[in-house]
Amino acid sequence: MELVDRDRLAEHLKFAAELGVAGVSRDPAWRAQGAVTPESRPVPGIPTEALAAVRADLGDCTRCKLHALGRRQIVFGVGNPDADLMFVGEAPGGDEDIQGIPFVGQAGQLLTKIIEAIGLKRDDVYIANVIKCRPPQNRNPEPDEVETCEPFLFQQIDVIKPRVIVALGKFAAQALLRTLDPISRLRGRVYDYRGAKLIPTFHPAYLLRNPSSKREVWEDMKLVRKLLKSEV
Ligand code: URA
Repeated sequence: MELVDRDRLAEHLKFAAELGVAGVSRDPAWRAQGAVTPESRPVPGIPTEALAAVRADLGDCTRCKLHALGRRQIVFGVGNPDADLMFVGEAPGGDEDIQGIPFVGQAGQLLTKIIEAIGLKRDDVYIANVIKCRPPQNRNPEPDEVETCEPFLFQQIDVIKPRVIVALGKFAAQALLRTLDPISRLRGRVYDYRGAKLIPTFHPAYLLRNPSSKREVWEDMKLVRKLLKSEV
């Protein structure tokens, strides 16, 4: 094994231990779950084209005030257009605004580890935000911005048709579930949402400030894994 692989594996196991993972399954079916096989690799087809159509419709959006408040670019979403699992965050931050890709900063790196902890890769899932442009100074999105932008997220969900959606943090969970309940009350339950099962969990940025909550996130991710494995 290459040293770099060994380092990555060690880091992966350390993170899994922090999440509270008690052991590693030797079940080949489980290990194969995250692997991209030729059959599971997205083929250019309806979801890819339909997603491109949603992106084209969004265009160089000026529908809300964020376009004039310093956004560099629209951060549409990234990943497998045919994904079973979709993550929804709040809004792009500074790194995302520069790169045009959601969850690439510090919180994004933690999200990548969370995805890998359930045996998947970033490329296997789809990642998007409730709003597609960075709010100035990373302030919370405002109601008119959410109202204007969320139809595009709904279209993304309807095209991708994920089986499971993970709402990352209070803002995404409250926006999707149309509630003001705190994330601590929302998480730990499964919601029916646009044909998918929705699981709210803590935002990775919150986990960076509150590492002890990784255990709860691991509980949520085990539920995600169970739902993805189930036939229903
Ligand atoms: N936080 C989010 O909610 N979304 C991102 O894309 C990055 C950080």
